Amino acid sequence: MTDISHYRADFPILQTMMNGRSLAFLDSASSAQKPRAVIEAMNRVLESGYANIHRGLYSLSQNLTADYEAVRGKIARFIGAPSEKNIVFTGNATEAINLVAQSWGRTHLRAGDEILLTAMEHHANIVPWQLLRDQTGIVIKTIPFDARGVLDLGAFEKLLSAKTKFIGAVHVSNALGTLNPVRKIVETAKSYNPDIKILIDGSQAVVHGSVDVSALGADFYVFTGHKLYGPTGIGVLYGKSGILESMPPYQGGGDMIERVSFERTTYKEAPFRFEAGTPPIVEVIGLGTALDYLSAIGMEAVAAHEARLLSQATEQLCAIKGLRIHGTAPEKAGIISFTMEGAHPSDIGMVLDRCGVAVRTGHHCCMPLMQALGLEATVRASFGLYSNENDINQLTEGLRKVQDMFA
Ligand code: ALA
Repeated sequence: MTDISHYRADFPILQTMMNGRSLAFLDSASSAQKPRAVIEAMNRVLESGYANIHRGLYSLSQNLTADYEAVRGKIARFIGAPSEKNIVFTGNATEAINLVAQSWGRTHLRAGDEILLTAMEHHANIVPWQLLRDQTGIVIKTIPFDARGVLDLGAFEKLLSAKTKFIGAVHVSNALGTLNPVRKIVETAKSYNPDIKILIDGSQAVVHGSVDVSALGADFYVFTGHKLYGPTGIGVLYGKSGILESMPPYQGGGDMIERVSFERTTYKEAPFRFEAGTPPIVEVIGLGTALDYLSAIGMEAVAAHEARLLSQATEQLCAIKGLRIHGTAPEKAGIISFTMEGAHPSDIGMVLDRCGVAVRTGHHCCMPLMQALGLEATVRASFGLYSNENDINQLTEGLRKVQDMFA
């Protein structure tokens, strides 16, 4: 098994102290820390390579345009997409889903059409569809999950009908860590009706293992750069060949047009017609560097490393009296959500911070999921490729302190 522990040294922030302790950063599902290679690549552009792209005949602009466009190909290879033409740059995963809802959804969905969303979606894959519901009269139905956080595929099959036009499903739940059987969902839906379109939110999946969108067969796959060791402000929409070309622009502005007159405007082909205005140039370069960095390590090695940490953390946390893990699906990524008897998640988060441990507390932008579990909030520890056994030991030690204080 490949040992990737030495990569931790590539992350400058992990050398810092927090409240007198080494920083145990266990909030990578919220946003991952950045390796030196990403920071330096972005600085290099800003210091010596920066200009606007797609708009200058001078060398600075031409060179950066070539580097920027090369990232589309890197992303395509990273997720197994057939071509860079399948890759749209967006601001984040949320914007990618809003783009699909407003461009594909508004064009193709009518009042009474049904869309299915899993009950464990992040708000980013719920609210855009509610906005569309208010605009068009579509009906949103939800696919339930059980107490372990496993989707009920029997219920899913029963929800499929002639009215079903779209399915949105999260690949890995950010709140519970469940790795959903998205391939099975796609196969089931497409064999029921090949015209049903499917969007997979891969924000937490691309970071924890390798993804092959071609093998998956979904129509859309979205993720964000900042969880993938890249910068904020850059997200990705993958669209299956043929579908992006059939969609109208999402936003209008510079760079997405062929010709503009006050009478009539024509648009560039996909993916460029979806990228209005000056894009996040430096951020795209940063994401490209993050993908180079991850590809050199290998996502299988990252997945195996995180699986080891997950099993260590699960074992250690289960041994703490009064602690309950939420999300016990057999297939999980490096995310562990829990509550403790007698201590509010916010109190736990604050005590952990004093121990140098950074975790997320709250509803994790998944209020319907929390309601289904009868919870207000949980504490969530999530791992990255740089996480190690000491981080988990520090978490466990902090939780023992919580127990002493609140039990
Ligand atoms: N979606 C991010 C999380 O799960 C912010 O924490």
